[in-house]
Amino acid sequence: MRYEHETPEDYYSFRDEAKEVEFKRHDMPTPWMNYLSNGTFHTMLSHAGGGVAFYKSPQIWRITRYRFFHLPTDRSGPYIYVQDAESGSYWCPTYEPALNKPQAWTSAHGMGYTRFEACSEGVSAKTLYFVGPFENSLIWNLTLTNNSSVVKTLNVYAYAEFGMMEFMRELQWQCYNKHQVSVMYHGQEALVYKYGVENQPKPEETPLVYFMADRPLHSYDGDRDAFIGSYRSESNPAAIEQGGCTGSTLLGGDPCGALQVKLTLQPGETRTVNFFLGTAMSEAEIEAAMACSREKDFVARSFQALSGSWDGYLEAWNCELPDPDAQRMINIWNPYQAQRNFLFSRNISFYATGTFRGVGYRDTAQDALAVVPFDAEAAKDKVRLLLGQQYRDGHVNHYFFPHEGWEPVTSIHSDDHLWTALSVWDILAETGDASFLQDRIPFYDGGEATVYEHLKRAIDFTASRLGPNGFPLMLRSDWNDQLFRVCRQGKGESIWTAMQLGMVLLRMQELAPLAGHPEDTAGYTAMYEEQQRLVNSLGWDGKWFRRAVMDDGRFLGTAEHEEAQIWLNAQTWATLSGMAEPSKALQAMDSVRDILDTELGIKKLHPSITVFPDPADPLTNYNKGTGENGAVFCHANTWAIIAECMLGRGDLAYKYYRQLLPNVAMEQAGLSRYKAEPYVYASNLFGPESDKFGLANVSWLTGTAAWMYVAVTQYILGIKPVLEGLSIDPCIPAEWPGFSVTRRFRGCRYEIKVNNSSRSSKGVQEIRVDGQKLEGNVIPAYAGKVSVQVEVIM
Ligand code: GLC
Repeated sequence: MRYEHETPEDYYSFRDEAKEVEFKRHDMPTPWMNYLSNGTFHTMLSHAGGGVAFYKSPQIWRITRYRFFHLPTDRSGPYIYVQDAESGSYWCPTYEPALNKPQAWTSAHGMGYTRFEACSEGVSAKTLYFVGPFENSLIWNLTLTNNSSVVKTLNVYAYAEFGMMEFMRELQWQCYNKHQVSVMYHGQEALVYKYGVENQPKPEETPLVYFMADRPLHSYDGDRDAFIGSYRSESNPAAIEQGGCTGSTLLGGDPCGALQVKLTLQPGETRTVNFFLGTAMSEAEIEAAMACSREKDFVARSFQALSGSWDGYLEAWNCELPDPDAQRMINIWNPYQAQRNFLFSRNISFYATGTFRGVGYRDTAQDALAVVPFDAEAAKDKVRLLLGQQYRDGHVNHYFFPHEGWEPVTSIHSDDHLWTALSVWDILAETGDASFLQDRIPFYDGGEATVYEHLKRAIDFTASRLGPNGFPLMLRSDWNDQLFRVCRQGKGESIWTAMQLGMVLLRMQELAPLAGHPEDTAGYTAMYEEQQRLVNSLGWDGKWFRRAVMDDGRFLGTAEHEEAQIWLNAQTWATLSGMAEPSKALQAMDSVRDILDTELGIKKLHPSITVFPDPADPLTNYNKGTGENGAVFCHANTWAIIAECMLGRGDLAYKYYRQLLPNVAMEQAGLSRYKAEPYVYASNLFGPESDKFGLANVSWLTGTAAWMYVAVTQYILGIKPVLEGLSIDPCIPAEWPGFSVTRRFRGCRYEIKVNNSSRSSKGVQEIRVDGQKLEGNVIPAYAGKVSVQVEVIM
């Protein structure tokens, strides 16, 4: 589907030194997003200036409006208009949405910021959007230069369409609620938007919104209709075309913030104006925020602090590899994406509307895995948050709403509660500090217990819910959301959950003695062995592992059926869990290679489902090759990479890794087929049985980010924290001459050089730490040292 004229370089390029991706065209196949955030105030912003700002929660404190799925695409956004006061013609530094386009234009996403450079009619504009750490505001930093030989008088307009905070109620009750909001002119040249709607969930925690400039305002509008006019849009606002803002405020109606500033620029002169769209809890706090934002170096200081914090974050883990695409992803974009997942769960993206996805238990427990190496304390806090959603019997809420205060979704899944053990084990391996196991955390339904006890109860919950064959009951589903269809009667069992349980039990065997409960180990071992026996017997289909037992007692994922014969997860986790007998492990992963792999990633299952198990009630409604059906589900691909590394097949592992690097997959599929961003992972790509093979979906917020990071850093590059220290066991393409990694670990910098002059995929011959030969391949922690040099000979 690749168009002949299409070369990705015409659309974008990476600027790795600056940790940026730069865009040369505005008409990408979809808006390519970035997230600007200080952890409290957030903005999702596209390469062409569309986007949405929210405070803490996009469900109930959505400050601006973004029209999901509507045409024209990617509206609205924090827009700036630059108008020549004499001619009246105007354009936008973001390219969109004014009809008049800049003569030259680029934009770029960086770590927590997005910038635009444009020029038109003798004026150039540099615009930088970011959220700094000092105030809860989106900073719009605009620098204009008059490149012409005549004096220019410019009208500069900053415009944002305000949303009505509670997004769902906006859709439902807008006609009443709109009359309960106001936008007023604040004595200090700012607009203040107040959302005071009846029955809002948390009125006392709902902020006021301010919108201000750091230069005197010429005029303003708080009424969207006054600024935009009738039958117009952001492309041609009436106010701009008809003499400027009208001075409207709003006591009921459709709110907006529009600020007009007048600037005169001599030939060659440059001037800067900053706009701030922010939140504060009271008038007094607004005053303080405004005073602070107007301090002379506030914007520069804020940006410096933002850049500094990302530099500091990413410094924890750096590599030099023979593959620049992988190197860039590992050093920059993958940890960046993973951090955004950790922050937003699956909440809001170009694809997800941020209406009813709070914090997903299983999703967040997995997201934490890729934050642990950078910020173990934040990961601990997240684990505390998750364990607070656990019931005394060990199961957990499926997803929940810490900001919104809504009731959680309480469906019980066979996997959710088990994931946390992996996050906890990783935290211990990273920090070397087992005291976290003793932290006391309340249960959702009363009482409290230590972290370890929480994990133990999760195991107990599963142990007490085994099905007729002895595998864990599927319950509402396992990791695969769709499986409830074949397990509605509650009799179905998940063979994959047996494997997940296996992996967790291996961790629990190690955690029990550290928690002071060595007596638990025997029970974990016995349970593991029993599940392992079942997996290798009933779970084995001859060439691969079966996926589940359906309510009617038949197996799912067997050659006996016409559809859904083989499922990826059952093959990969058979190895991840250490359960598969060696020959079965290999045979299963060979089947993955032979049946499920494509040039654009590994399919989730094969053949795609159309009528199975019953044409009147198929297992999924997803069209063949899409989403949860036979698509390339990227999240599940990560486990194939890990499995191949565990089996020592470095070339195959790397093939699986590289083919899903977003820019590589885009190149393979063709940009206009792939559509999503080339710098972050998507959740899935349509598979070969779809007529749009290669179309990437649901980018940014996906478990792919965390697990790809784990797969490549811990298994391909093989630098993996374990309880005893840092284990080194790479599994790389045989042709690689070597690579190097700098990693922060328990307070010390490990500068690791791996030499592969033997051209092998796996197998460490020798490790030297500061010249001293090491026994085995686990490097201990060096409490007193700042850095150590590690030489690894493969
Ligand atoms: C989506 C869900 C995730 C689930 C996966 C597979 O990515 O967010 O929770 O595990 O689909 O069904």
